[in-house]
Amino acid sequence: MTQRIPIIGGNWKMNTGLESGMNLASCVVDGVEACDSCEVVVYPPYPFLQSVESVIDASNVYLGAQNMWHEASGAFTGEISAPMLKEVGVSSVLVGHSERRHILGESDQLISQKVALGIEQGLQVILCIGETLEEREAGETLSVVPAQLKAGLSNIDVAHMTSIVIAYEPVWAIGTGKTATPEDAQTVHAAIRLTLSELYDDATAQQTRIQYGGSVKPDNAADLFACEDVDGALVGGASLSADSFTAIVMAACDS
Ligand code: PGA
Repeated sequence: MTQRIPIIGGNWKMNTGLESGMNLASCVVDGVEACDSCEVVVYPPYPFLQSVESVIDASNVYLGAQNMWHEASGAFTGEISAPMLKEVGVSSVLVGHSERRHILGESDQLISQKVALGIEQGLQVILCIGETLEEREAGETLSVVPAQLKAGLSNIDVAHMTSIVIAYEPVWAIGTGKTATPEDAQTVHAAIRLTLSELYDDATAQQTRIQYGGSVKPDNAADLFACEDVDGALVGGASLSADSFTAIVMAACDS
């Protein structure tokens, strides 16, 4: 079986200040120094990207952005482009996070354009997908999630799949303290991998990393990472504490 390197992302969302963000980054750098078997990325708010980069520069922690616009430049007041992100050291970008889908109204079509531009610009793209509580209760999880996956990847050919990571984040589990059970997560991750093999091929499906996100904490991380198709986590709340985030990274390193 293909060995997939787990990837742990810390999505700080609209939290931290300049100084507290730099401190957090510095503690994360120290905490994960010994970790050599997984990939660690932090996603600070835009204004702090460059300062956080100066802290993580010489470390094994990568810099990510929480979003970007789907055009490379132009008259898009208030938006941030992939080339700008790259200039300040960003190598990874979150696209289609549920807060952007549901609070900011981003559509599958817009998300697929962002995925395409991120790839064209040489970024690692984390495509976030996941069902709402209503969809889960209606038994629609295994139709909604593959449909989001197919829409998000509609402009991506097989050669670029090495730069794509999928983040499965059930909306009802984000920031709520409710986590999918490892069995539920595994079921959806396996369905995502099956969809990838239908869209591309088995080798691509096996090599693509699928993170779980939604109230991942130090005490549930190891059980999630023990699942065959769970290749790390996208962590929100628990990434704001260096101790919690480091413990989750270490659980991934040991998995
Ligand atoms: P959470 O957020 O860990 O606070 O649930 C996860 C995410 O939104 O990526």
